[in-house]
Amino acid sequence: MEYTLIATAPLGLESVVANEARRLGFTEIQTENGRVRIQTDLEGVVKSNLWFRTADRILLVLGEFPAYTFDDLFEGTRALPWDEWLAEDAKFPVSGRSHKSQLSSVPACQSIVKKAIVKKLSDAYMTNWFQEDGATYPIEVMLLNDIATITLDTSGAGLHKRGYRTEAGAAPMKETLAAALVILSRWHGERALLDPFCGSGTIAIEAALYAANIAPGLNRDFISEQFEWIPKRLFKEARDAARDQIKQTDLHPIYASDIDAKAVNLANANAARAGVDSLVQFSTRALKNIEIVEERGVLIGNPPYGERMGEANEVRQLYETLGKIKNQHPGWSMYILSGQPLFERWFGKAADKRRKLYNGRIECQYYQYTK
Ligand SMILES: C[S@@+](CC[C@H](N)C(=O)[O-])C[C@H]1O[C@@H](n2cnc3c(N)ncnc32)[C@H](O)[C@@H]1O
Repeated sequence: MEYTLIATAPLGLESVVANEARRLGFTEIQTENGRVRIQTDLEGVVKSNLWFRTADRILLVLGEFPAYTFDDLFEGTRALPWDEWLAEDAKFPVSGRSHKSQLSSVPACQSIVKKAIVKKLSDAYMTNWFQEDGATYPIEVMLLNDIATITLDTSGAGLHKRGYRTEAGAAPMKETLAAALVILSRWHGERALLDPFCGSGTIAIEAALYAANIAPGLNRDFISEQFEWIPKRLFKEARDAARDQIKQTDLHPIYASDIDAKAVNLANANAARAGVDSLVQFSTRALKNIEIVEERGVLIGNPPYGERMGEANEVRQLYETLGKIKNQHPGWSMYILSGQPLFERWFGKAADKRRKLYNGRIECQYYQYTK
């Protein structure tokens, strides 16, 4: 059977998610604002959850129809084969979103969808009372330009939750964004990689997982493992296959450091939980004391942005030091995510390429010095 999946993508990373989908072997892919659609089968649902490094979550499209009125929404929802997806004891919370649509009251839309599902299930199971104490099936109704898309979340916790970062430092970056920064740098593990502002270690750990071809979801579970119509063996088979695909040899060490010794300890513990501590060499040092021995490599970092009062001067010096390191090591490319608009001026050179990305809510640029 064919399914349409929506891999939700962080703003600015839609094309990265779409490229990942291609690399994972999906062929029917459509890129939209904030999401990538994929046509696939049940194996694809499992594979996408296990393997996507940059997508936020994987939604399964249950239905899509025009909805200008509450009646349209009710009837369109009721027409879907809910009893094929939801067992009699299923728990099915309904969340919602609405954008550029006549049906703009999200709570009202959620309640209409819930009622329509209950109506359909009542007819199918011949009962009016649903205990909702079984497996959870999170439903979402999304209205965009008066088209209702009804989806089922197959991930559960967001895909950035890989399971290794049980504690995080002061300003940790989402694992999905860290993976995207690595992928955008075109580094594949063949040269040195250094993050001199490693904090809780996210960029270095994601780089190690990527280079060793470790499926990012290998050490966590997904809500769809509880769905009755997805055979449990599909998850087991996909995990077994992923374990067989781990690359054990020819891996270049990854270097990660930070001025804060506590952060480095934490990063080390996170890397151990991710199973990549043997691939990452951590050290405590300030950027100005960094030692670079390899002739070629990639520096990826997320330094402080200096948005707080009194920090700007320190941050300016930090960026100047980065610019000097780039001049001293021309064989190294540099990829810096910063929300500081004066970054290039302080670094001393305009970036060869820039890309607007969001680190949480902060608008940043990914400054890329590749030449
Ligand atoms: C935005 S955080 C990085 C967060 C990291 N990407 C993560 O996911 O946890 C910036 C880091 O730069 C470090 N830092 C600040 N000044 C530094 C310096 N002069 N040299 C090295 N690290 C520095 C801070 O200790 C902090 O951990």
